[in-house]
Amino acid sequence: MIKLFSGTSNQKLAEKIAQQLNIKLSKTEIVRFANSEVRVRIEEDVKDQTCVVIQSTSNPTDTHLMELFFFCDALKRSEAKKVIGVIPYFGYARQNIQHREGECVSANVIIRFLESIGFSKIYVVDLHDEATEGVFSIPFKNLTALPLLAEKIKEYLSNKGINADIENIAIVSPDQGGVERARKFGESFFNTSDFPLTVVEKRRNLAKIHVSKAVGIYGDVKGKIVILVDDIITSGSTLVNAAELCLASGARFALAAIVHHDFSKQAPEKLENSPLEKIFTTDTISLLEDQKFKKLEEVSVAALLAKELKHL
Ligand code: R5P
Repeated sequence: MIKLFSGTSNQKLAEKIAQQLNIKLSKTEIVRFANSEVRVRIEEDVKDQTCVVIQSTSNPTDTHLMELFFFCDALKRSEAKKVIGVIPYFGYARQNIQHREGECVSANVIIRFLESIGFSKIYVVDLHDEATEGVFSIPFKNLTALPLLAEKIKEYLSNKGINADIENIAIVSPDQGGVERARKFGESFFNTSDFPLTVVEKRRNLAKIHVSKAVGIYGDVKGKIVILVDDIITSGSTLVNAAELCLASGARFALAAIVHHDFSKQAPEKLENSPLEKIFTTDTISLLEDQKFKKLEEVSVAALLAKELKHL
């Protein structure tokens, strides 16, 4: 049997996973000092045990990352047989190349840290770019929550008396980089790969953070219900701009399936006031009280993760 540990980033999800596995979360002491340093202490015997640490490296990203590294160190020092990291939301994944000359490649640095500290396997959910998988030289598994979101949206539409037909519904990627992801969502949603995909062309000004424009739309959304598919919402600009363009192009209404809500401070209000009818997301990141809004609905990834951990 594994020992399951939770960092502080998403304890609710860790508890749900423990429940699914019918085990208790193992005991730890996590102390944050007044100068913001953190100390992790394992309070159970883990000698020769397989230990799993659940920690999303969401905002505050660096703080959550350090905690994860310290968990691994503490477990290795306590002679755990293996330390496995479950990182439902893998922060810094968007900085996986040099977008401009002179930039760091943050994702690569994080992976080197995880490996050198001693993790023996890493699980994530919907990593931003699948190509990043190749950077890991330890076992790595990228799980997907897209089928869960597809099921939830089908249920929502069916409650409204709407059939999930290819003729009624347009699956839309809100940018060029998300085409494969939107296709995968559509395959799960329609149970076939034979459907037209719509793509919104996004333009970013790389010198300005969180600013983007939807400049064109490729595909037919007229008279259709649009489902925008993306991995992350931060400022909400990508999603809201794409929804507005779809509606201006004649869409009936717009829904969104977004795996991770790594919200900026203004995002919840921007999304609630947007023309999107509903945003379906997951609990890979803990949702704070002041981030909750009516249009947002979460689906849990606990069962998806627990199913994997059962086999360890
Ligand atoms: C970008 O490549 C991602 O897939 C998301 O589209 C993007 O990070 C969302 O950010 P924001 O909500 O700030 O537009």
